Amino acid sequence: MQYSKKVIEHFRNPHNQGLIKNADAIGQVGNLSCGDIMKIYLKISENKKGEEIIKDIKFETLGCAAAISVSSALTVMAKGKTLVEAMEITKDQIVKNLGGLPPVKVHCSMLGVEALHQAIEKYNKSHN
Ligand code: FES
Repeated sequence: MQYSKKVIEHFRNPHNQGLIKNADAIGQVGNLSCGDIMKIYLKISENKKGEEIIKDIKFETLGCAAAISVSSALTVMAKGKTLVEAMEITKDQIVKNLGGLPPVKVHCSMLGVEALHQAIEKYNKSHN
């Protein structure tokens, strides 16, 4: 299996790994077939326009190299975005950002998107 340079970089040196104490929202998803688990922590604040933005984001992933790289790339992409923009991040964008994933590993990118969207949905439910 061939990983892109960018996947290997993110795997070796993951960004935003860890947890946020007092997170405003947490999303957690698991993949039933491989057993991997991904957790996304969000800290939300308002920008000058009064829009809610992702001020800080961290991840904890018990999973394969692709899942860790996806989590790392996803947090970099989502940080600073409004919640509306972050909801629009797709698995295809993450795969593209990583310079591709081996076909057998593309499902791993779903975990990241699902965990992020779940955290935002939970936040929206508890604040609206
Ligand atoms: Fe399970 Fe990658 S093999 S997330």
